[in-house]
Amino acid sequence: MKTSHVFPRHTNYDLPFAVKGDGCYIIDKNGKRYLDASGGAAVSCLGHSDETIRKAIIKQTEELAFAHTSFFTNDPAEKLATLLANNSPEGINKVYFVSSGSEAVEASLKLARQYFVEIGEPERHRIISRKQSYHGNTLGALAAGGNITRKTYFEKIMLETSSISPCYPYRNKNNNETETEYGLRVANELEDEIRTLGAKNVMAFIAETVVGATAGAVTAVPGYFKRIREICDKYGILLILDEVMCGMGRTGSLFACDEEKIIPDIITIAKGLGAGYQPIGAMMCQDYIYDAISNGSGFFQHGHTYLGHPIACAASLAVLTKLIDEDMCKQVKEKGNILQRTLQRVIGQNQFVGDIRGRGLFRGIEIVKNKSTKEPFPKKFNIANKIKKEALNIGLICYPMQGTIDGSIGDHILLAPPFIINENEINEISIKLKSTIENVCDEYK
Ligand SMILES: Cc1ncc(COP(=O)(O)O)c(C=O)c1O
Repeated sequence: MKTSHVFPRHTNYDLPFAVKGDGCYIIDKNGKRYLDASGGAAVSCLGHSDETIRKAIIKQTEELAFAHTSFFTNDPAEKLATLLANNSPEGINKVYFVSSGSEAVEASLKLARQYFVEIGEPERHRIISRKQSYHGNTLGALAAGGNITRKTYFEKIMLETSSISPCYPYRNKNNNETETEYGLRVANELEDEIRTLGAKNVMAFIAETVVGATAGAVTAVPGYFKRIREICDKYGILLILDEVMCGMGRTGSLFACDEEKIIPDIITIAKGLGAGYQPIGAMMCQDYIYDAISNGSGFFQHGHTYLGHPIACAASLAVLTKLIDEDMCKQVKEKGNILQRTLQRVIGQNQFVGDIRGRGLFRGIEIVKNKSTKEPFPKKFNIANKIKKEALNIGLICYPMQGTIDGSIGDHILLAPPFIINENEINEISIKLKSTIENVCDEYK
């Protein structure tokens, strides 16, 4: 009989107690140190003991803890929104604060819907997304996402959505096509789906700019997102880019879409925005969407109690200020290259490593049974889960997941270390991953 009253994610695991953060490490109550190579789930971009952020939180607690946003605005929220707007893609100037990534996505879907009702196109309600994507666990966000495993129990109570192929060249590019041809082929699936549904019924296409947890740091081929943007424009459909995981510097630019040279209508961010010091997310939109609400009903029919929480915003303001003032995106690019090179050197030749990919400090390692045929391990071995346990055992936090290929089979490991990581720690990640992968996979080859 368990003594804990916490309802945990998994009921049959005994988890270590985390008691302290120290730079890139988490320390448990027995003093064991875990190198956090995934920032939990791409959250802790500044590590676990940043004094500036800690102080900003304490200072705000001493001034104002909470003031409900239906009565007041507050200084940290105003300053944070301004800083985000000043550094966001052109035209994206309004920021709606929430407390998580799922809430940000939920808000983006509701805003898209309300926008079309406000401008007199109430038939538009369908959402198109991509397979092998994840947009959150609340019902709307879950319905929009393409992570089959996370949806299974809830299909019957979810919105009807459609999905097109991801842009996943390692698995799906044909040998006889160039990257550009492949990108166009999969982007054009969006146009086909819009025509099938009838353009007047479609309100939004949602995609992770760089796919995170579900497929493992999958970047689109050049030209893919340009074509997606063109199709959305042609049919008057909103493009929502979900940067909850890949945004806020993770891939080497503050907004991952900067690298794709496209501007979405709505962007969602979270995770690195609070860097783990506070739970915060945001939905940002183009002025013209905001204006439609403002000139229409004047009220976004949405809201949560903790919107724009002063302490969360104060922490996030300190995080964002640091990312910008210390030019951390540049560091992410440089360290990301070092991480990629080190991984290639240490595990690149490993028979179980099919692909090492990603951008900045956002890297994915696809695990295979056979390197030349790319054959995955059978699902029943649940390699990803075994890797997670084995890595934790030797003091490494990484984020493995099963279902890489189609939601059921395939395994990958996602890495998203803090931006403060140094070369010794990058080596430690690679060496620990090497022994973890060898120990686990050798047994099932
Ligand atoms: C791309 C993406 N969107 C949304 C979410 C949901 O965020 P949260 O877990 O903060 O609700 C996640 C979480 O992993 C994510 O990776």
